[in-house]
Amino acid sequence: MTKKLLILNGSHSEIPLIKAGKKLGFHVITIGDAPGLIGHKYSDEYHPVDYSDKDEVLEISKKLSIDSVCSCANDFGAITASYVSGVLGLSGHDTFETTLLLHHKDSFKKFSKENDIPTPHARSFDSASQAINSIDEFNYPLIVKPVDLTGGKGVSKVNNRSEFNKSVQIAFDLSFENRIVIEEFFNGTQHSLSSFVVNHKVVFYFSDNEFSFQNPYYVSSSAAPAIHIDKYSSSLVRSIETISKKLGLVDGVFHVQYLANGTRATIIDITRRCSGDLYPYPVNYATDIDWSEWIIRSESGMNCENFPRVNQAGYYGRHCVMSNRKGLVKDVSIDPIVRKYIVDELFWWQPGYNIIDFMTQKVGIVLLKYPSMSVMMDITKRLPDLIKINLV
Ligand SMILES: Nc1ncnc2c1ncn2[C@@H]1O[C@H](COP(=O)(O)OP(=O)(O)O)[C@@H](O)[C@H]1O
Ligand SMILES: [Mg+2]
Repeated sequence: MTKKLLILNGSHSEIPLIKAGKKLGFHVITIGDAPGLIGHKYSDEYHPVDYSDKDEVLEISKKLSIDSVCSCANDFGAITASYVSGVLGLSGHDTFETTLLLHHKDSFKKFSKENDIPTPHARSFDSASQAINSIDEFNYPLIVKPVDLTGGKGVSKVNNRSEFNKSVQIAFDLSFENRIVIEEFFNGTQHSLSSFVVNHKVVFYFSDNEFSFQNPYYVSSSAAPAIHIDKYSSSLVRSIETISKKLGLVDGVFHVQYLANGTRATIIDITRRCSGDLYPYPVNYATDIDWSEWIIRSESGMNCENFPRVNQAGYYGRHCVMSNRKGLVKDVSIDPIVRKYIVDELFWWQPGYNIIDFMTQKVGIVLLKYPSMSVMMDITKRLPDLIKINLV
């Protein structure tokens, strides 16, 4: 009988996972409270259930007798997947407690401090008044973040005392957990490292450089490999393996966002799930493996000990096409300078597509292949000017 795999959303970000699930022979079911999302078209079955509501997801998982569950590209998905797999006794996920420890920034900070994991110094608060009363105890600049959100939601930089209260309030207003961290601002370049862990050892990693444009806390482009990765990889791998051993993590993806300043790297954010915005495709180009397939294998509890020995090669990028203002889309123009580097693209805009929140809304993603690091870095920085959304 065909096994049932539940994937916890069906946006463009889950398309690689849905395709990989089908390739592995699963009957793929997607859920999520937005039925119009493009990814649902690729699944075999869809149900309108909010993936962040873990009890509702448990109910439907029981009703559908699923065999496996895979997180979507969002931390709430990782938390729900671990909860559902724990209750139903499925394998492929860390315990619920461990998943919360890793995905909530305050508990991860505490764990990091106790285990010498390099991460910016931070303090956690569970009340706005307590944070505001501590205003004199900080040096500026700072970063304030809700503990439980992703994509830079509720994150802001505090340059001086006068900006402190407002940032604290924004973070508290958005946090579902009603908890925030206030951490030292680290001046450096931003990167990610997506690794695969088997028996608490990193058997593969892929690194890249991350770029944000009009929204400074929201990564919208990447270019791989990360500059100077050789300088930082052993420290990052050591951290991942330490976390994995100490917490007894299951095999699978371990994704790290880090900042680097030429001498050291510091970890700002981690996740145990597939990254979004077609992140798996540059990994595939750079390695000839199917990254999403390995994520599905691990999250569905399949044996991953035969993960292939591969190294990242070449120069690959990924760019989310976004607008710098509100309005209705007329068309998208792509400068010939960048056209020659585009190897694949996925667009979901139609004429008249309404851009309401230009800080997060995308109309498509392009995937790029470059001849060298220098061309890649030059083009990547200019992408918002080279690929433009024209509004009506
Ligand atoms: N300590 C820091 N110093 C400088 N910038 C930071 C720091 N922490 C976070 N940022 C910036 O804020 C963004 C969002 O923070 P992050 O911890 O990744 O939260 P999220 O879970 O919302 O992605 C990052 O992509 C980075 O640009
Ligand atoms: Mg992040």
